[in-house]
Amino acid sequence: KNYVSIGLLGLGTVGSGVVQLIQQHQEDLVHQVGCEVRVKSILVRDIHKNRDLGNHQVHLTTDANEVLQDPEIDVVIEVMGGIEESRAYITQALKAKKHVVTANKDLIALYGPELQDLAVENECDLFYEASVAGGIPILRGLADGLVSDRIQKIMGIVNGTTNYILTKMDEDGLSYEAALKEAQELGFAEADPTADVEGLDAARKMAILARLAFFTNVDLEDVEVSGISNVSVSDLNYGKQLGYTMKLIGHAHIEDQQLEISVQPTFLSRNHPLAAVKDEYNAIYVNGKAVGETMFYGPGAGSLPTATAVMADVISVIKNMKLQVNGTSVVKPRFERVLKTPEQ
Ligand code: NDP
Ligand code: HSE
Repeated sequence: KNYVSIGLLGLGTVGSGVVQLIQQHQEDLVHQVGCEVRVKSILVRDIHKNRDLGNHQVHLTTDANEVLQDPEIDVVIEVMGGIEESRAYITQALKAKKHVVTANKDLIALYGPELQDLAVENECDLFYEASVAGGIPILRGLADGLVSDRIQKIMGIVNGTTNYILTKMDEDGLSYEAALKEAQELGFAEADPTADVEGLDAARKMAILARLAFFTNVDLEDVEVSGISNVSVSDLNYGKQLGYTMKLIGHAHIEDQQLEISVQPTFLSRNHPLAAVKDEYNAIYVNGKAVGETMFYGPGAGSLPTATAVMADVISVIKNMKLQVNGTSVVKPRFERVLKTPEQ
């Protein structure tokens, strides 16, 4: 066939952005990959919901097998979230020799290496650029752009919801609850926002980043985490009087030959470049031994920005399909479990 057939698991904030991008950028896609990209079927929970699919002829279903067992579907995009169900579906897709693109950091932080092994075994790609920092191509930045360097430190804002909440509380005096509600309405927050506000979403992203940056396996339990659910407008005003602004900061660095990862609300001087990162935007500093300091900045959540990351992965999958090299572009851990710098 002269087109690539896509199945989606999920048609919410990210899934609908993906469908929109495929539709609106079809000509560019054809130019990039040399064939059409068609969405065939989409798994949803509620088939009766009102959805705008433009002029796309798509089959909506509540039966995952109609996506996972359809021999015509080449690539499965998992944008439904959750852990156990999506793990089972991705496993099924890979075993059926379908390439998988996911935005699911919860899943990748916990089961990334296991699923990656399964993908390689089945000569399939499993890509997850959208799982960290939405529209910022940070995983490509680490795995391709900076792969020749030795990373010393990563530090930044990797959760859009909490940054949105802190910005609105700080600048507009909105209450924590009102700011969270806005972040939910804008589609930035997780279905259950507890992971956002308690720092777990950021911790999962830092674990994924650290795996790529330090070529090692990372256990989520090693990440020290605290969130922003107890922060009040008066805390922020107090910081403001002293020239500080609060951000939820993720850190991963090597200290005494140990990799330390943390996520914590942190007061930064208002002159600090991360203090200027507002709303749902994210920014990540990466310090490499050879390159020095680099900073990646952009929208960390939201429908279309995240869809660009998903589609970048889809394009990579299709290019690999043409070259018949799927399942080969994997960053392999050099170290069994953290704790040793590349110098050791
Ligand atoms: P939404 O809650 O907006 O959408 C989830 C979609 O999946 C819905 O279409 C829902 O169906 C469907 N779905 C959920 N559970 C099931 C199930 N058990 N069976 C069938 N269908 C199901 O989520 P998002 O689009 O915001 O997020 C999706 C993924 O992308 C998550 O892993 C999230 O962490 C990640 N992500 C999100 C970003 C964002 O900005 N929102 C950014 C980066 C990553 P229905 O429509 O019928 O309810
Ligand atoms: N809930 C996440 C956030 C979505 O706010 O950053 C992007 O991963």
